[in-house]
Amino acid sequence: MDSFAQWIYGYEKKAETSRGKKRYINLDNAASTPPFKTVMRTVAEAAAWYSSVHRGTGFKSKYSTERYESARAVIARFVGADPERDVIIFTKNTTDSINKLSHYLPWLPGEMIIFTKVEHHSNELPWQNYKHHCVPLKNSDLDLEDLEDVLRKNAGNVKLVAVSGASNVSGYLPPIYSIAEMAHAYGAKILVDGAQLIPHRPIANPPWDDPRHLDFIAFSGHKIYAPFGTGVLIGPRALFEKGRPSQVGGGTVKGIGPHGIIWSPPPENEEAGSPNVLGAIAVAEACRTITAIGWPALMAHENRLIRHALHQLAQIPELTVYNAQDWERVGVISFNVQNLYHRDVAEYLSDHYGIGVRSGCFCARRYVAELLSLDYRETNPQKPPGMVRMSFGCYNSLEEIDIAVEGLKELVETTKKSRLKRHLF
Ligand SMILES: Cc1ncc(COP(=O)(O)O)c(C=O)c1O
Repeated sequence: MDSFAQWIYGYEKKAETSRGKKRYINLDNAASTPPFKTVMRTVAEAAAWYSSVHRGTGFKSKYSTERYESARAVIARFVGADPERDVIIFTKNTTDSINKLSHYLPWLPGEMIIFTKVEHHSNELPWQNYKHHCVPLKNSDLDLEDLEDVLRKNAGNVKLVAVSGASNVSGYLPPIYSIAEMAHAYGAKILVDGAQLIPHRPIANPPWDDPRHLDFIAFSGHKIYAPFGTGVLIGPRALFEKGRPSQVGGGTVKGIGPHGIIWSPPPENEEAGSPNVLGAIAVAEACRTITAIGWPALMAHENRLIRHALHQLAQIPELTVYNAQDWERVGVISFNVQNLYHRDVAEYLSDHYGIGVRSGCFCARRYVAELLSLDYRETNPQKPPGMVRMSFGCYNSLEEIDIAVEGLKELVETTKKSRLKRHLF
């Protein structure tokens, strides 16, 4: 079986637990992935030649500028962007990318945006102040009939359909290319929040004239093994040529003309101040590494992890696994344990097994509330509802899943015994 652990920096690190030191098992990759060794090596090499980019005349400055700019081309190839018509903007993360985009969409009276029930807050809150519609779920998939209905009734007035490429709660894969086709048929554009898609599936963006083309893509480096504070926003260059940048300062001004400031062209106008050069180089190296390992091998390995985990978790009757029936998903699995608060379960796995998982609502309150059959506006802020989430990276193994399952079984038994004791005495 493929093992990608040798690609990971810090894989062998041990964590303190109540049972002594144990090799840390990271099942929290949907939050952040550890760096690839290739990324660390490349960043260290580039750091030796690091200098500020664009305006310097020294060798180091020219070198850094070349590395920074060529990172865009690598990323464009990785997602199938058109280097002429699209622009690759470096941001801080997905959240920053989507906020930037929201600044650029000119709103006319009557226009609206559509997002969905499965969105992370980063792809919901930037749109909240506009007239909007949230696509509900139907049998645990997005209700595409509802989407088409709203598109049809508002044809020409829907500015954007904003949808996750993959859910950070359930691993669900919205059919983004079909949604793109539908959005375009009614004159709308599509934004794919690629934060959870990019580490798990190739994004082969169809060309511009293909109805399945994705107009905007946003993602974060720290979710694809490049945790150096860089995100990416990709979209039509022409859109970002209009108007005032979302942030102004150094690098955003080309000159002063008779009618005032002439803003720099994109991407410079959207990268105010000194950019995160090493972060951009890191993202490009992560893209290169994933391409070198190869998607077929990565996806086959992840599928094995998902199948194994779903099968093993199903053996514990006290567990409720959400979206368990969906096997065509990315490696994100959320669950709850009967009679236990989600955070206590996560703490148990950490304290006794050295396993990192996440608990809570994962910044996706609407979706989590729906899966829990709760009204999210009426939940107790002191003890918020939520779930436990296991999420896989390419380097996790079946054995690591077995250890997590062993920990969960032990916790269930311990809980049963202590409840019984309380009942007896
Ligand atoms: C689907 C999704 N979108 C957006 C984000 C926000 O990413 P970032 O915190 O890197 O901005 C996340 C983070 O978990 C996510 O899972």
